[in-house]
Amino acid sequence: MSNQPAVPDKQVEHQHTDKGYVPVYTTAVVEQPWASYTAIDHDVWAQLFERQRALLVGRASDEFLVAQDAMGMTPDAIPKFDELNDILAKATGWTIVGVEGLLPELTFFDHLANRRFPVTWWIRKPEQLDYLAEPDLFHDLFGHVPLLMNPVFADYMAAYGRGGVKAHGIGPEALVNLTRLYWYTVEFGLIRQADGLRIYGSGIVSSKGESIYSLESDAPNRIGFDLERIMRTRYRIDTYQKTYFVIDSFEQLMQATAPDFAPIYARLAAQPSYPAGTVLDGDAVFHRGSGEGWSQDGDV
Ligand code: PHE
Ligand code: CO
Repeated sequence: MSNQPAVPDKQVEHQHTDKGYVPVYTTAVVEQPWASYTAIDHDVWAQLFERQRALLVGRASDEFLVAQDAMGMTPDAIPKFDELNDILAKATGWTIVGVEGLLPELTFFDHLANRRFPVTWWIRKPEQLDYLAEPDLFHDLFGHVPLLMNPVFADYMAAYGRGGVKAHGIGPEALVNLTRLYWYTVEFGLIRQADGLRIYGSGIVSSKGESIYSLESDAPNRIGFDLERIMRTRYRIDTYQKTYFVIDSFEQLMQATAPDFAPIYARLAAQPSYPAGTVLDGDAVFHRGSGEGWSQDGDV
């Protein structure tokens, strides 16, 4: 691994994205400056890892837990990307690449389409264990990378990348529809197992509060997956979600998203979006949220 000092932040500018008003970084792929992680960085990783793993047994999907074990991630130290890649590439052909932070959309889609998952190399500070406005190494590596070991989910992510390139070419409204799908599946998805609802979304598995809230709180809606419904539904970026969508399996997700989205985008362009907390007549409702504690504005 590299003995170079930590790569300085190469922040390009602030942009309004689906993650809020956040810095977008250079598109460059960077080598993980592993030797520059401090004892504090490794300790932040260890604390977060142990805390989340304890919470996620019985809450995260079996697929997630199995995949994370298979990758050999441990709390002992921040994993080396190279070592994870040896395992990941053999399993599903995915590799992870180091980046400074959020990427421009098209760059991000191109990585996914080519089975490269961009992972932010730096980790949050000890005072940010519970919340961080932008993705860091813990969110990306602990939250996103394990499911890339799952062959069906691995294919879904690559298909999403190709779909992103396509939607980008169609226009901004198509991208909004597609981004909602990413948000309500990859980031905040729930899955129905024989023994109950479980988490698979990365934004949930990397969050202590939302790991509990998404499954156990009365406040949010839990609704069966419906592609076009999701594409029309706004979401929250600064609070827990008002609605979670539940898939039956990754195979279902793969099948439902296989059709050409171009005609769907065209049709949805004429239709209004739904507020994040809405329950519709046609919804397959697992749980109708009480709405307790919801803020009235701020859906994006
Ligand atoms: N079928 C989608 C399209 O035609 C591509 C896609 C697949 C998008 C899986 C998201 C997830 O655009
Ligand atoms: Co994420």
